[in-house]
Amino acid sequence: MNKNVLVTGGAGYIGSHACKALKAAGYVPVTFDNCSTGWADAVKFGPLARGDLLDRARLDEVFAEYQPIAAMHFAALSQVGESMQEPGRYWRENVTGALNLAEAAVAAGCLDFVFSSTCATYGDQDNVVLDENSAQLPINAYGASKRAIEDILKDFGAAYGLRHVIFRYFNVAGADPEAEVGEFHQPETHLIPLMLDAIDGKRDALTIFGTDYETPDGTCIRDYVHVCDLVDAHVLGLEWLKSGKGNRVFNLGTGDGFSVREVIQHSHSVTNRDVPFVEGDRRPGDCTKLVSGSSRAVNELGWNPKRSNLEAMIRDAWRWHQNTDGHYAK
Ligand code: UFG
Repeated sequence: MNKNVLVTGGAGYIGSHACKALKAAGYVPVTFDNCSTGWADAVKFGPLARGDLLDRARLDEVFAEYQPIAAMHFAALSQVGESMQEPGRYWRENVTGALNLAEAAVAAGCLDFVFSSTCATYGDQDNVVLDENSAQLPINAYGASKRAIEDILKDFGAAYGLRHVIFRYFNVAGADPEAEVGEFHQPETHLIPLMLDAIDGKRDALTIFGTDYETPDGTCIRDYVHVCDLVDAHVLGLEWLKSGKGNRVFNLGTGDGFSVREVIQHSHSVTNRDVPFVEGDRRPGDCTKLVSGSSRAVNELGWNPKRSNLEAMIRDAWRWHQNTDGHYAK
């Protein structure tokens, strides 16, 4: 029986972990990636079909060749700060790319679609519990582009019967504990890998972006979720769709928030090394606090996050960093 699942962005950080989880669950992950921000060396668990989401003809070819039973859509530009400087790229690549993919999937009769969305679609909502019914009021172009894709999927569901599970991620961190895949962005912008680089002397001190937020220690608060737990939810989401349970949105976060200073403290205790840091200005587009207030994924999907405590996330990221020097072969 065909068990092919098309994984866009399978060469990237989250997509490569998803491919490992899909393979372990008996599926064949077919990576569709242009390798612009991902790494061919991260594609270890199934075939790589190189292509760009803006190239509809190439998408049609890959759907015809592999006849996937579902699509998981990870490929996207995903940096909040960059999206404020280059909003046009975010709208074009994220929204047009997803639109092409959804149209190609419908044309190929591949009607189960799992989508990586983000808590950045909620925006900065002080004192609001962020659950799946919260208003979506993004304050950066990245979040706005993801919200638009959610709307596309809803419309495609109504018009063409495209079934979707939408996951709104909080801050994804950590790495495969076996260090087969991990986090490596070029350039790196994420807090934990930058901190590990600074600890290791690979770059100068980490800059804390803003110390005057209205939080107990003045720095931004985020809800960190382990990448392995996150991708487990995607396998459950695929099974949810295959069992006919219908369209659903799930937050993926733990409900615990940590400030930037708290992440620094935990990194110090896990690595037993000093974390060189300096205090800097706020980064445009950053929300003060993003913490999930939902247990829908646990209650309805049966999601059981096992590694999403900050120590485990930093420890696994540190192991990957040390085993591989923090990057794939170039
Ligand atoms: N931060 C610093 N210094 C740095 C890098 C980050 O202080 O050098 C701070 C940020 O200001 C933020 C926190 O660390 O408060 C986390 O920043 P990241 O860049 O690691 O993550 P973001 O919260 O900006 O974005 C990530 C994903 C998005 C997702 C978002 C949801 O990249 O795709 O989480 O919060 F939408």
